[in-house]
Amino acid sequence: ARITLRQLLDHAAEHGYGVPAFNINNMEQGLAIMEAAKACEAPVILQASRGARSYAGDVMLARMIDALVEMYPELPVCLHLDHGNSEATCVTAIRHGFTSVMMDGSLEADAKTPASYEYNVDITARVARIAHWAGVSVEGELGVLGSLETGEAEAEDGHGAAGKLSHDQMLTDPDQAVDFVTRTGVDALAIACGTSHGAYKFTRKPDGDILAMRVIEEIHTKLPNTHLVMHGSSSVPQDLQDIINEFGGEMPQTWGVPAEEIERGIRHGVRKVNIDTDCRMAMTGQFRRIAAQNPAEFDPRKFLKPAMEALTALCRDRCERFGTAGQA
Ligand code: G3H
Ligand code: 13P
Ligand code: NA
Ligand code: ZN
Repeated sequence: ARITLRQLLDHAAEHGYGVPAFNINNMEQGLAIMEAAKACEAPVILQASRGARSYAGDVMLARMIDALVEMYPELPVCLHLDHGNSEATCVTAIRHGFTSVMMDGSLEADAKTPASYEYNVDITARVARIAHWAGVSVEGELGVLGSLETGEAEAEDGHGAAGKLSHDQMLTDPDQAVDFVTRTGVDALAIACGTSHGAYKFTRKPDGDILAMRVIEEIHTKLPNTHLVMHGSSSVPQDLQDIINEFGGEMPQTWGVPAEEIERGIRHGVRKVNIDTDCRMAMTGQFRRIAAQNPAEFDPRKFLKPAMEALTALCRDRCERFGTAGQA
């Protein structure tokens, strides 16, 4: 059955677990994620970005979710808009049956200037009021994703760099977080702690200098009842890098967010953990392997089936690590 983000994360907080939010663009990802959830009895967050909405179309995404909810009636499913950037992207998502929307008013890299902070508060509060009228949850974001190694803030589309910022400008300020949550009424707050989107987060295994988990602990101390969200939470596992590169890929060596750091976050109020890159890599590793090992193969299902199985295994692993397994 459908569930709102608020209902799901309230349960997660009460029972001390986190919920992975997996990005969805197509049927194969939907089926693979639901199979994982079914196998370990986990509630599910499926999130669609603006890119996913233009790739599949809102009607297709909405009907796909209807189908998944019908096929897995025993599982709670939240359909969430990832990185909405305006009232319009949020309201149209609500109209298409999303039970939760993210209004990311922090997308401007200078989100810590007073003017852009006020912009973020205003638009997020407005979306929260509208969404709540419709019984839909809202995630807001405060802070700037990007690399603490280089000081490069992430560009609005999650690719490349928008410019250089100090650590202070990027990391979420705990006192400002209190003001933001109070003034906007969001159900969940995405924070910045040194992670970024995509595969190239860190040039070495991250320590506290470049992955600032202490920021999460401080925010949680000041906002013990607010559900925190970690974006850019792919672990970029070595085995997935290796399989892609073994079969013709050219991904330079990189490091993601270690699972044990996410588990530490979950002990300090992190309830939603956004994962897209790992899912992409799990599928692509299998596409490359089949293409290399079976060059005569041309049936897409022969590529997609192993890719779905790899995605299911990945999603199940995350549900087990984050304590989501067994909570459905
Ligand atoms: O926030 C980024 C997510 O990984 C979605 O990526 O905008 O390419 O669909 P996308
Ligand atoms: P990754 O790129 O680390 O998977 O992050 C995904 C994300 O934050 C989607 O909003
Ligand atoms: Na941001
Ligand atoms: Zn994100």
